[in-house]
Amino acid sequence: MRILAYHVQPYEVPAFEKWSKENNIEVVMDKGLITAESIEKAKGFDGITTQQVIPVKDEEIFKKMQEYGIKQISSRTAGVDMFDGKLAASYNVAITNVPRYSPNAIAEMAVTQAMSLLRNMNHIKTAMDSGDCSWDKRHIAREVRSCTVGIIGTGKIGLTAGKLFKGLGAKIIGYDKFKNPEAEDVLEYRENLEDLLKEADIISLHLPLFDDTYHLINKENLKLMKDGSILINTGRGALINIDDVIEALESGKLAGAGLDVLECETVYVNQKVAPEDVYCKCVVEKLRSMDNVIHTGHFAFFTETAVDNIVNTALDNIKKTEETGKLQNGTNM
Ligand code: NAI
Repeated sequence: MRILAYHVQPYEVPAFEKWSKENNIEVVMDKGLITAESIEKAKGFDGITTQQVIPVKDEEIFKKMQEYGIKQISSRTAGVDMFDGKLAASYNVAITNVPRYSPNAIAEMAVTQAMSLLRNMNHIKTAMDSGDCSWDKRHIAREVRSCTVGIIGTGKIGLTAGKLFKGLGAKIIGYDKFKNPEAEDVLEYRENLEDLLKEADIISLHLPLFDDTYHLINKENLKLMKDGSILINTGRGALINIDDVIEALESGKLAGAGLDVLECETVYVNQKVAPEDVYCKCVVEKLRSMDNVIHTGHFAFFTETAVDNIVNTALDNIKKTEETGKLQNGTNM
């Protein structure tokens, strides 16, 4: 059996090599994307995998896959919106994905950002960089055990974040449209979003972006939050109205915000950009000037464990499909 891996990133190489050795299956790594031209490289392989946001919607790709007898594209991503699923199915090509890879990766980023904001790390660093090492009142911190953490979206990641914050001594409350029975030991549910927002000192978002969650946090409900509360978003950028959040940060309503995701992030995520061109098109330029903001460019998932799980699951999906003749779509936590 031979597998061709497209768009392999340097950070994925050790995981590919390890899986190949352990499974005694040849994996050829290619840096390029799947395109109508590059699909010709797949001739003679039994399975292919890719990780790309660039669309795979050209009919020629699926036509050639059918010709070469390849029945599956194993995507090394959770979302598969970059593929034309219907077109693929018309050529008997299935798309499989990696629905979950490490809730801890994202939950740990939420905790890291919240703790850094609680301890005023940006303020302290800025002051110390200018030689001011005095115990200024602005730098005095709250301890997390004196805080109530509000988890919005208590699925896999939200529940993991709740457990981590609880381990640090915080009181945890949660809100979810569908309560998670597993979460009852970790947090107390509030019946509606408003009650949670009024009570929490730290609010952490862990829900998907749907029509009903678009700009879930906005001017109206920011008013309900405690003065000096902290907002963390590692979910999706459009869960918050960023202009309203910036206003709340400037007024002091919010003491800080940790933002791993932004609605406008596609212009810079996982790219080398000219900041003066790209950041100005987005709100990043503004956020960079604010000491009470920690902005990371969609890095929450980016841990060694998560990358290993993504690569292993995508390759296992191909192997199991090949061995059983049935399409596999696996989760490796
Ligand atoms: P999950 O499906 O296990 O949990 C999501 C929870 O949100 C569910 O309990 C669901 O009932 C709840 N929910 C859905 N709509 C809601 C609403 N309108 N109001 C209240 N609760 C609602 O998903 P998981 O794995 O915990 O992921 C959560 C989100 O984290 C993902 O949807 C994704 O957007 C984001 N994510 C971010 C990553 C990053 O690198 N920053 C990486 C992976 C996921």
